[in-house]
Amino acid sequence: MAGRSLVEQFDGPIVDVGSGGGAPGIPLACVLPDREVVLLEAERRKCTFLESWAPPNARVVWGRAEEQELDWAGVAVAKALAQPPTAVEWCLPLVRPGGAVILWVGPSAEPDRVALAAARIAGTLEQSPPGFLVVRKTGPTPAGFPRRPGVAKKRPLA
Ligand SMILES: C[S@@+](CC[C@H](N)C(=O)[O-])C[C@H]1O[C@@H](n2cnc3c(N)ncnc32)[C@H](O)[C@@H]1O
Repeated sequence: MAGRSLVEQFDGPIVDVGSGGGAPGIPLACVLPDREVVLLEAERRKCTFLESWAPPNARVVWGRAEEQELDWAGVAVAKALAQPPTAVEWCLPLVRPGGAVILWVGPSAEPDRVALAAARIAGTLEQSPPGFLVVRKTGPTPAGFPRRPGVAKKRPLA
């Protein structure tokens, strides 16, 4: 599946942020059965759906990205979560230093804005194949992040 080889470059738990209908977290959990996958979703109704389809190595967490424990995931993935600078702000705090955020993006994504946002949260944009933006976490989440729920969308960092 798309993104599998990118995800495999980083060890540790995988979190799909804003999993919704299960993409890309459920297909990733199926093709990587030895990896722990967390399907993180803010809407309770969608979590009920995810619970009925999650394979054994995936668990569903109902909650917002901004309210989760920091610096634990090896990889955070997200597809259609929000505008890419907001998505990277929500995802990076979950990732431990050395890990990465992998965003599934369309052609309108603006890598320069993502790089600017990432730099504020200990992240650096790496060379990424078409359709993806890969941001590596370079250190612990800085003080002041994550910002309060809703702020990243209202006042993006870039
Ligand atoms: C457009 S859907 C995309 C779902 C799935 N990734 C896909 O590609 O089909 C975005 C999802 O992100 C969830 N979401 C939005 N903000 C979130 C946040 N801060 N934390 C966790 N989930 C969030 C929404 O509830 C929604 O289910």
